[in-house]
Amino acid sequence: MSLRLGDVAPNFQAKTTAGDIDFYEYLGGGWGVLFSHPADYTPVCTTELGKTALLKSEFEKRGVKVLALSVDPLDKHKGWVNDINETQNVTVDFPIIADEDKSIANAYDMIHPNASETFTVRSLFIIGPDKKVKLFITYPASTGRNFYEVLRVIDSLQLTANYSVATPADWKEGEDVIVVPAVSTEAAIEKFPKGVKVVKPYLRYTPQPNK
Ligand code: BEZ
Repeated sequence: MSLRLGDVAPNFQAKTTAGDIDFYEYLGGGWGVLFSHPADYTPVCTTELGKTALLKSEFEKRGVKVLALSVDPLDKHKGWVNDINETQNVTVDFPIIADEDKSIANAYDMIHPNASETFTVRSLFIIGPDKKVKLFITYPASTGRNFYEVLRVIDSLQLTANYSVATPADWKEGEDVIVVPAVSTEAAIEKFPKGVKVVKPYLRYTPQPNK
């Protein structure tokens, strides 16, 4: 059965380009992004891993550890990393998991047999410090993911975790956020000293609390 939001992300041990890891130990008490790609030495995957490396400081700033995964062997990952570094002008230093026996891919339902019997699709999981799944997305092999969107979701999730606010459609860093329904307007006025704008009793905005 596939993982759903709020489920505990399964722990695993894996061989990676950064050495053997235990997933939970690697994450420590922080956030994680685990994402699969179909195969090494393929064009879209090359750009995706390059973009992830380029955004290293953005993930670090947010306390997020990143791991990529495919069912290719470790030697192949290592050779391909040289190509990614060369063509994308980056240094890939996050772990790329070699899931040759597909045990992790199966635990995270990353193989969709009607898309491909053998390769992982583009699955991506955001995992919280409580090791629970906060978001998952699945893209087809032919569409590279938007890693700025992944960062935007992490910002939203961290605002919710730290300040009990939600974010509206197309929200961007610095824009007003939404008071969650569980917080009364009276409590919100106390909680958010920058002010609460009540558009409807259920639609209340406040400036981003950590700005
Ligand atoms: C790619 O990464 O470019 C790719 C991988 C598998 C199928 C199609 C594209």
